[in-house]
Amino acid sequence: LNNLSILKIGGSILTSKTGIRKEVVGEMVEEIGKALDLDDRLILIHGAGSYGHPQAKKYHLDREFNRRGMVETMEAVRELNRSIVSELNSVVDAVSFHPFNLAVTENGRIIELFDRPLKMALENGLIPVLHGDVVFDTIKRSCILSGDQLTCYLAKYFGAGRVGFASDVEGVLDRKGEVIPILTPDHLSRMASSTSDRVNVTGEMQGKVRECIIDYGISAVIFSGRDKDNLEKFFRDEPIGTKVLVDAR
Ligand SMILES: Nc1ncnc2c1ncn2[C@@H]1O[C@H](COP(=O)(O)OP(=O)(O)OP(=O)(O)O)[C@@H](O)[C@H]1O
Ligand SMILES: [Mg+2]
Repeated sequence: LNNLSILKIGGSILTSKTGIRKEVVGEMVEEIGKALDLDDRLILIHGAGSYGHPQAKKYHLDREFNRRGMVETMEAVRELNRSIVSELNSVVDAVSFHPFNLAVTENGRIIELFDRPLKMALENGLIPVLHGDVVFDTIKRSCILSGDQLTCYLAKYFGAGRVGFASDVEGVLDRKGEVIPILTPDHLSRMASSTSDRVNVTGEMQGKVRECIIDYGISAVIFSGRDKDNLEKFFRDEPIGTKVLVDAR
């Protein structure tokens, strides 16, 4: 699907410690509405941010199965998802797809995903909205499926023409703190390693880049979702942030 864009919006920009950032969601929704033509297709994926990461951490969901933790994490992410989809629906026609109900992982990696309703939603001009979620895992019983992995999986599966990650940094930074404009598999070592101790169980920027380059081999753009103009530029294929470039597509 060449006319398909997949956009992942980081939970880090959609939420603050205390809740949803309504202005950010509003701006993004407006930009998405403006960017889409009739025959454009879009899948949106959002992270969990403060709706999910703290619960996952509290119950050590990255290490062990916990039924209560599973439920609480899921509830929190769904609350965020509900707000986002309802805001979206003031401008476009969007529907929630909860990964818990669609996907199964094996040791953290997607091995099954019920794609048919997603495909049919796209065919009918709806915008599917997915998110990072807790899912069942054949080995670990449950796992946290990141929005990043979902994005790359779906990009590859549907052969998306355009893949983007709107995050809270200008792009992938090198050790001097400067944005790397083009990141290829050969130059992965230029990327600065993580130093933060933030509440995040899905690997931050390193996780994102690894999903794209190593796990799925898809090209994508990583940019700041804080800069309002970036979304418009993303949909127009203008250079922004970091272009992760993988030749074999
Ligand atoms: N080399 C790097 N370049 C850019 N950011 C980096 C780098 N190393 C670590 N980071 C951290 O990665 C963060 C972005 O990843 P993070 O997972 O927090 O955001 P997200 O994926 O957009 O949000 P969420 O995981 O909530 O969906 C940055 O805020 C930064 O602190
Ligand atoms: Mg992340």
